[in-house]
Amino acid sequence: MKNSSSYSSAALLAFSCLLFLSLPSPSFCAHPKCNSHDKKVLLKIKADLNNPYHLASWDPKVDCCEWDALECDRNTGRVIALTVFAGNISGQIPPAVGDLPYLQNVDFHKLTNLTGEIPSTVTKLVHLTFLRLSWNHLSGPVPSFLSQIKTLTFLDLSFNNFTGSIPPSLSELPNLLALHLDRNRLTGNIPESFGNFAFGNSVPDIYLSHNMLTGTIPRSFGGLNFSLRIDLSRNRLEGDASFLFGKNKTVQFVDLSRNLFMFDLSKVEFSENLIYLDLNHNKIFGSLPQSLTNLGLQFFNVSYNRLCGQIPQGGKLQSFDLYSYFHNRCLCGAPLPACK
Ligand SMILES: *[C@@H]1O[C@H](CO)[C@@H](O)[C@H](O)[C@H]1NC(C)=O
Ligand SMILES: *[C@@H]1O[C@H](CO)[C@@H](O)[C@H](O)[C@H]1NC(C)=O
Ligand SMILES: *[C@@H]1O[C@H](CO)[C@@H](O)[C@H](O)[C@H]1NC(C)=O
Ligand SMILES: *[C@@H]1O[C@H](CO)[C@@H](O)[C@H](O)[C@H]1NC(C)=O
Ligand SMILES: *[C@@H]1O[C@H](CO)[C@@H](O)[C@H](O)[C@H]1NC(C)=O
Ligand SMILES: *[C@@H]1O[C@H](CO)[C@@H](O)[C@H](O)[C@H]1NC(C)=O
Repeated sequence: MKNSSSYSSAALLAFSCLLFLSLPSPSFCAHPKCNSHDKKVLLKIKADLNNPYHLASWDPKVDCCEWDALECDRNTGRVIALTVFAGNISGQIPPAVGDLPYLQNVDFHKLTNLTGEIPSTVTKLVHLTFLRLSWNHLSGPVPSFLSQIKTLTFLDLSFNNFTGSIPPSLSELPNLLALHLDRNRLTGNIPESFGNFAFGNSVPDIYLSHNMLTGTIPRSFGGLNFSLRIDLSRNRLEGDASFLFGKNKTVQFVDLSRNLFMFDLSKVEFSENLIYLDLNHNKIFGSLPQSLTNLGLQFFNVSYNRLCGQIPQGGKLQSFDLYSYFHNRCLCGAPLPACK
């Protein structure tokens, strides 16, 4: 029954294509007709955003799958992506976004006049994998309800004006590959629960830089096998961070710069996966371990700490200039002046 009806609608579409081949609508056959529910919701979103010029193509007389800033599924005509980028749009994220049930990607990016909070209706989007709301002027908390969207693989709220603390529940997103909360005004500690990401399918890359986070890195982080990157730079974090490293770790990129970390670097073991290490402006003491010469480092900066002793000679360490090493207590040897 199902087969025969889909067969007949396919036949009808083919027939319509033949019939209308001469009409001045070249993509008539290439695109499915837009779902009428989705179209209605999109027009509400447009109205809620005060009918911006950026969405001028959202003309009710045109099939909505032809409109800019969105994508339809080619078979069903359902809207699967909303990509509103760099337009002159003022207002708040319309709650109606939650009424496009097949959305996989939601991207409101570089809209400097987009304000207000993230609407809780996004939790209705059970197919959502990609949520990017970066470089806007959003405010309020990073909502803990985001942890209900279990399908999320990518969450980017960077470059906004979010305040408050990081909700511990974000570690309950089992499929997350990247979490960007950098460049906001977040306060409080990094949640202890973030050590539990490992119990999901993946450990996401974590970007928390340029906030006002305080306290220590939770010990639970030591057990984490960060997939690639961790950036905690430009916060007010303190204490030990040596447990982020270790021979076994897969992490490639670690930026802890401009915090208050204080630990002995002498005994830290580094994984050969590490290619980017920025520790500048902390209170790190001890000496640089010889094992650093075994790494294929592409970036290295330990300036403005309390390190001492000879810089190990070899590997990539002399490929960085003295500004990677200066302003320490008594580091010496190339590229700094020779030890006395
Ligand atoms: C933001 O809104 C203000 C006030 O309406 C307007 O002057 C400005 O051009 C807008 N900026 C952008 C980038 O849309
Ligand atoms: C943005 O739109 C507002 C009103 O719609 C207008 O006054 C302003 O000049 C626009 N700004 C830019 C940068 O186009
Ligand atoms: C950020 O939000 C706070 C309120 O939470 C507000 O006072 C402040 O003006 C906002 N900053 C910017 C740059 O919009
Ligand atoms: C490496 O990991 C294994 C298990 O994952 C663990 O038993 C071992 O102690 C670790 N070695 C180091 C040096 O951390
Ligand atoms: C990290 O993952 C790698 C590769 O999956 C594995 O070999 C290593 O033992 C893991 N290390 C830890 C500390 O779990
Ligand atoms: C290392 O950090 C210091 C301090 O922020 C900076 O002056 C220097 O340029 C940095 N070096 C590199 C290679 O980025």
